[in-house]
Amino acid sequence: MTGATAAQWCAAAELGDVVLYDVIEGLPQGKALDLFEATPLAGVDARVRGTNRWEETAGSDVVVITAGSPRRPGMSRRDLLAVNHGVVAEVAARAVEHSPDAVFIVLTNPVDVMAYVVLRASGLPPARVVGQAGVLDSTRFRAFIAQELDVSVEDVTALVLGGHGDSMVPLVRLAQVGGVPLSELLPAETIARLVQRTRDGGAEIVGLLKTASAFYAPGAALCEMVAAVLRDKGRLLPAPAYLQGEYGLNGLYTGVPVLLGAGGVRRVVEVHLEPEERAAFLQSAAEVQASMAELPGAPC
Ligand code: 2OP
Repeated sequence: MTGATAAQWCAAAELGDVVLYDVIEGLPQGKALDLFEATPLAGVDARVRGTNRWEETAGSDVVVITAGSPRRPGMSRRDLLAVNHGVVAEVAARAVEHSPDAVFIVLTNPVDVMAYVVLRASGLPPARVVGQAGVLDSTRFRAFIAQELDVSVEDVTALVLGGHGDSMVPLVRLAQVGGVPLSELLPAETIARLVQRTRDGGAEIVGLLKTASAFYAPGAALCEMVAAVLRDKGRLLPAPAYLQGEYGLNGLYTGVPVLLGAGGVRRVVEVHLEPEERAAFLQSAAEVQASMAELPGAPC
């Protein structure tokens, strides 16, 4: 669902042609045809097609990986590691054979670890493998803030760093509404409630859907990142990126602000963190590291 929904957002934004890949015969073809038939109504020229053959994805500029199982109620994202790492490694290896110059954006959970799996399986440089998590977590935080204050979502900015799990770090100090710090607009206990709802955002939707996890907002978040790459925007977005000394961390993916444009991650941006923010960020990164240790051939 997330792949197809990302395709819908991307086609509607006329970002380019889209190929949906799945192993199930007929499924990507049917979804792609349905979406393509909507393009005259959307007024966009985007070719959308579905396939079970990697050859038909050849020469892609961006590869978005959503393959694998989603969560069910009661599961953590980390519970998916054992089922998802094999399929994600296989998908990455096959996709890169046909699109060696692409930027890879990974959504499959646990995303911080799966981005590392893609890095390892594809052999691509770290700049060309990035995860999607922080854009989703931040848009949830922004939506909740806008709803609470009854203001336009357009004026709300927020940044969520760290691993995409229960210990993610919504940076309240940096959240603003029209340039005004959030702490001047809402009492601390209300902000704490919104922060917790953000951390629980994925689980809240899994709890409601029961047999699926979220896909509209994750799809939109993927589209935002695809647009940043294809239009060479140089967007400053939070995303799991491979750290090589930044924030004092090495050899893992975790959510940090990145400059995203053509070619992928132009650079990881190191923002100043207050001591308690840094401690929460490092704790979250340590949890990612602990998950990575569960991978076969683990690096740490
Ligand atoms: C979420 O937070 C799917 O992890 C994703 O909804």
